[in-house]
Amino acid sequence: MTDPKDLDPKALRQAFGAFATGVTVVTTRQPDGTPRGFTANSFTSVSLDPPLLLVCLAKTAHSADTFAAAPHFAVNILSEDQKAVSGLFASRAPDKFAQCAWTPGPADMPLIDGALATFTCANHQLVDAGDHLILIGRIHDFATAEGQPLGYFRGNYFSVGIEKDLAEAAAATKGSRLGAVLACNGGVLLKDDGKLCLPLAPQPTLDSLTASLTAQGLMPEIDFVYAAFDDRSTGGHAVYYHGTVHGTLPNGYRILPLADLASAALANPAEAQMLCRYAEDFRNGSFSIYHGTETTGQTRQLGA
Ligand SMILES: Cc1cc2nc3c(=O)[nH]c(=O)nc-3n(C[C@H](O)[C@H](O)[C@H](O)COP(=O)(O)O)c2cc1C
Repeated sequence: MTDPKDLDPKALRQAFGAFATGVTVVTTRQPDGTPRGFTANSFTSVSLDPPLLLVCLAKTAHSADTFAAAPHFAVNILSEDQKAVSGLFASRAPDKFAQCAWTPGPADMPLIDGALATFTCANHQLVDAGDHLILIGRIHDFATAEGQPLGYFRGNYFSVGIEKDLAEAAAATKGSRLGAVLACNGGVLLKDDGKLCLPLAPQPTLDSLTASLTAQGLMPEIDFVYAAFDDRSTGGHAVYYHGTVHGTLPNGYRILPLADLASAALANPAEAQMLCRYAEDFRNGSFSIYHGTETTGQTRQLGA
């Protein structure tokens, strides 16, 4: 085992970044009433009874002393259209609260307007943890609102909402199809009834896809949209999800090993291209989303 003091902090920070999170702004008041706040993705729910949460704050943050001494603080979970708010509170601007909409809440804590959820806490415990302080808050009030979250992954923001909108728009259009690239035992699940193709849903909805695979004894776990494109040959949209699948292989299916994906003779050229991209993404260890038409389009790194 490596001695912890020999670990490369930059590489460690990057590895931590592989954990996709939401984004919060943590707020409080100085003793003179001035509001203070910083952006944090280290938020964790801790306990329901008693109701506790935590946030880790760098000791180097300008607001560290203020938070360490404050009797209360609030956590605001940002929505997908609050990237600018995240950027503002991650900056060292002296007047962060002059540049965003907020409202005083319980215990006079500043609550960010438009947040998906807010938690107002009493400072329950302060833990000294290396170069960070762990602020453990005991929740006294909370509120939630409708909306999609702002995501953060490998140093980039991402939006969960866009993928869902794409998939829903596709499902509503005639001639649409919905399929999946499902990883299984070091390969990808393909339907093989004389012609090779990716598994497709009987109806173009995610529920229909998972129900049909489950009915055949497979256990799919879908994680994100992998491709959404207009298919001019059918006049509809095509949406393919990415995920994994377990279970006994039913008749008419096979697992194509990763090494054979790029040269697989799939009946549908768009699916063949998708598998080439999948093999490449797998090698790079980072996945992308494709959108465009069945022949030309753009890929966007997941998280970019
Ligand atoms: C998405 C994102 C997440 C962050 N998460 C944390 C965090 O969990 N803890 C922390 O101390 N800083 C975090 N930061 C950095 C602080 O927001 C930044 O250092 C800020 O300047 C601190 O404000 P202050 O110096 O005015 O206190 C994050 C920044 C971003 C953009």
